[in-house]
This record gives sequence, structure tokens and C-alpha cells, in this order.
Amino acid sequence: MSNTQRIRKAVFPVAGLGTRFLPATKTVPKEMMPIVDRPLIQYAVDEAIDAGCDTLIFVTNRYKHSVADYFDKAYELEQKLEKAGKTKQLELVREVLPPHVRAVFVTQAEALGLGHAVLCAKPIVGDEPFAVILPDDLIWNRNGPSALKQMADLAESSGNSVIAVEDVPHEMTGSYGIVDVASFDERHGRIDAIVEKPKPEDAPSDLAVVGRYILDSRIFDLLENQKPGAGGEIQLTDAIAELLKIKDVEAYRFFGTRFDCGSHLGLIEAIIRFALDNESLTEGARDAMVRALDELGVQER
Ligand code: G1P
Repeated sequence: MSNTQRIRKAVFPVAGLGTRFLPATKTVPKEMMPIVDRPLIQYAVDEAIDAGCDTLIFVTNRYKHSVADYFDKAYELEQKLEKAGKTKQLELVREVLPPHVRAVFVTQAEALGLGHAVLCAKPIVGDEPFAVILPDDLIWNRNGPSALKQMADLAESSGNSVIAVEDVPHEMTGSYGIVDVASFDERHGRIDAIVEKPKPEDAPSDLAVVGRYILDSRIFDLLENQKPGAGGEIQLTDAIAELLKIKDVEAYRFFGTRFDCGSHLGLIEAIIRFALDNESLTEGARDAMVRALDELGVQER
């Protein structure tokens, strides 16, 4: 990665089955689950655009037509809204993707793991540094730059790969990639080791990888040679462990709050947060929560 290379391309692995949200995910991809009125994927896309990306690569599968449809132009709907003078709604529909941004769709024919999904984007990414965003991890930095923008600034100045990390409870290490970092210089530090979903007793730390990566394109060659790892899948984490041997990879503690929208409670918390933060919904959302607590007799702790 040269020091001057901008991060222009972002990869969104969206081919997962979303089993935790069955039966909804029988027909609605989990990336299309709404946080109030915008689907999860929109937050991820907005973050990539905020970070300066203009090429968005969706790694999808044959069941996820609605993700492609969502980013396609909706001529009929736009015409109807225009005729009806619904300019605000028309804007919302048009703002899904700004004109300078293009969406590319790549199919992952078999669900062989996150590493394999990222590898599917190789022909589009080529040999420049690129971002990976896992839309399940929604990161909200209310008044500041998005997490990926913070990371892109670091990657563009250091020339290194950068991975977002966050402290998790020790008993949760088995749900994440876990990094070992000797020391942090303010918010970032060089990763010495990385391991996918270690048991708490084997974890090198409690510092977990969350779904934002800026990677050197050499990761593709490493992924091509990667054997199945945790869960029998081709793991991105394992290829990053190889990348560490040839190039510095930095862990970055971002500013912002992460909601794990791959879990029920994470999704619920994100919806509550965004509803309360929306002026027109704040009071109604608060009242609804108070009513629900009262009616169900749920005690405050
Ligand atoms: C993936 C990665 C893992 C990372 C996590 C972040 O796991 O493999 O290293 O910590 O995303 O959300 P998954 O949640 O897809 O099982």
C-alpha cells in the first residue's frame, strides 16, 4: 500500500443466511431489516461513502435480489412520487446512492465463509487497498466522522492495513476475531497476533475485531491459499494472520457506538437509539417504552 493511495472501494459481504432472524429472513435478507425506516445496508453504504468510497461491491447470493433491487433506480416509483408532488419522499428514494457512486454485484455461489466472500471481490478490487464492511455491525458516531472514515484517514497516512477493534467481555471472545496488540499509540497499535473465535481460556486478549477492515490487496493471494479454519470456513482472520507476517496491520479503537445487529438485542437497541435520536419520534418512542414497561410490569433495575 503506498502512502498516497485513497480507499475507493468497499466490499459488503451480504451472502449470509441470517439464520438468527428466521423466519423473517426466509424472504427478507437481514441486511434489509429496517432501523426505523432505513435498512441496515444503507447505514453501511453511507459509512463507505463518508469515507470516500465510490465503488461499492456487494458479495451476494441468488436469494438476495432485494439488495440489488434496493440500489437500482426505481423509475415507476419516482415518477409516481414526482406526479404526486411528494418531493421529500422522492429525495429519500434518490438519495439511496449518490450519482458519483456505483454499485457492483458479485455472486458467492457457495457459502464457504467470510474470507471466501471477500475473495469473490478480487476481480473488481484489483491491486489497491480496499475496505470491508460487515453491515451487521452498525457503528454510530453521532457528531463525528464515521468509523470507516476514521480508519481510512489512518490507513491513508500510514499506508498500513487497519482493523476496527473494541473491548468485549472476556466470556464473549468465542464470538469474535481476537487480536493481540503490544501497545496502543493513542487509539491504534500494531497487531502481533490475530485468532478467530478463541475460547476465553485461549484468547490472547479481550480486544475483538468488529466489522470494519481496510486491507492491503495482498490479502487476496493469501485468501486463495487459505485452508478452512474455525467452523470449517475460509476465515478472513486467518488470512490476516498471514498478512501480519509481510506487512504491518494496525488495530484501531474507533470513536462511536457499535450495535451488533446480527443479534436480536443489538437490533432492538439500534432501533431504540435511532428512534430516540429522531426529533419527530423522540417523545413517542419514550412514551411507548414507558407504557410497555408499565403494562408488562417490567421493573427498572
Ligand atoms: C466475523 C469475523 C470475526 C469478527 C466479526 C465481527 O464473524 O469472522 O472475526 O470479529 O465478524 O462482527 P461473524 O460475526 O460473521 O461470525
